[in-house]
Amino acid sequence: MVETSDEWIKTRTGIVERRVSKPEDEASDMAVAAARQAMDMAHAAPEDIDLILIATVTPDYRLPSQACIVQKKMGMKNAAAMDIAAACAGFLNGLSIADAYIKSGQFRKILVIGAEKLSSVTDYRDRNTCVLFGDGAGAAIIEPTEGERGILSTFLKSDGRYTELLWIPDGGSKYPYQSLNGSDPRVYIKMNGSEIFKHAVRMMGEASLKVLESAGLKGEDVTLMVPHQANIRIIESTARRVGIPMEKVYLNIAYYGNTSAASVPLALNEALRNGKVKENDIILMAAFGGGLTWSAAVVRW
Ligand SMILES: CC(C)(COP(=O)(O)OP(=O)(O)OC[C@H]1O[C@@H](n2cnc3c(N)ncnc32)[C@H](O)[C@@H]1OP(=O)(O)O)[C@@H](O)C(=O)NCCC(=O)NCCS
Repeated sequence: MVETSDEWIKTRTGIVERRVSKPEDEASDMAVAAARQAMDMAHAAPEDIDLILIATVTPDYRLPSQACIVQKKMGMKNAAAMDIAAACAGFLNGLSIADAYIKSGQFRKILVIGAEKLSSVTDYRDRNTCVLFGDGAGAAIIEPTEGERGILSTFLKSDGRYTELLWIPDGGSKYPYQSLNGSDPRVYIKMNGSEIFKHAVRMMGEASLKVLESAGLKGEDVTLMVPHQANIRIIESTARRVGIPMEKVYLNIAYYGNTSAASVPLALNEALRNGKVKENDIILMAAFGGGLTWSAAVVRW
């Protein structure tokens, strides 16, 4: 489709394969599939969930929220539901919001989902972006726990000055989607890759160091780092800065590419199922995305 090569993509990004859903598949169906798996693992029933948070930049509709669509599809009749717009950092923002609500006592069983159908906003004529993005979903159930385990600390930050480094110009109220069609590049993700790269390296490091500091921990205490999977070089440089050897970093970018808000929960779920996460392990998660936004969480499993 574009002038590129397998070699360029692998060496510059670490991506080998990606998943692309069928045009007729709904992003909410991926969210539901991930939520079902999380609920099975947590032995939770739909009526137990009292808050649904979905991080996504690719909801099925602009109105209502994707969280309300998932609520309908899953019959979660006792839940409040809302979306989080924080791009690739969205799942960790969701974890932080869930943590605060649980601590406040307002909600007791919160479903946090990261789900993206990025193929619907990827311009397959633009080699700066079309080799990077994939579709996917991941989910977690957050609930109160006893003792020292659980979310130890979270970190969230944004810098709204950089809108145009990574954005989808069209589809909002400024450029309503109806006025454009699929041949107009404004309906797709646009990105300044090298500028984003520089910010990402700084942000992933800052988020990781700050969240560890507020939990009273250091890089050497981390059993496993689960980073946002956007570019292997960004991950390597973050791990180096935080003092975590690459053997302790969970990687699946080769198989999924960048799935935005789905990236961290997809990797966390895989790490868990592959036996890489054990009770009392210290798990560090960190992400950055358009906004710009950057977030991290540290969990004693
Ligand atoms: C996009 C990214 C892989 C590009 O890698 P890079 O090493 O920074 O490359 P640059 O953007 O500096 O471009 C270098 C050259 O490769 C070219 N190039 C870009 N995409 C290419 C592709 N798919 N295939 C071949 N060449 C490509 C550029 O046109 C440029 O050519 P030029 O020197 O003739 O102008 C990298 O910048 C990146 O990963 N950035 C972060 C993106 C990201 O994480 N976004 C999501 C945030 S959640």
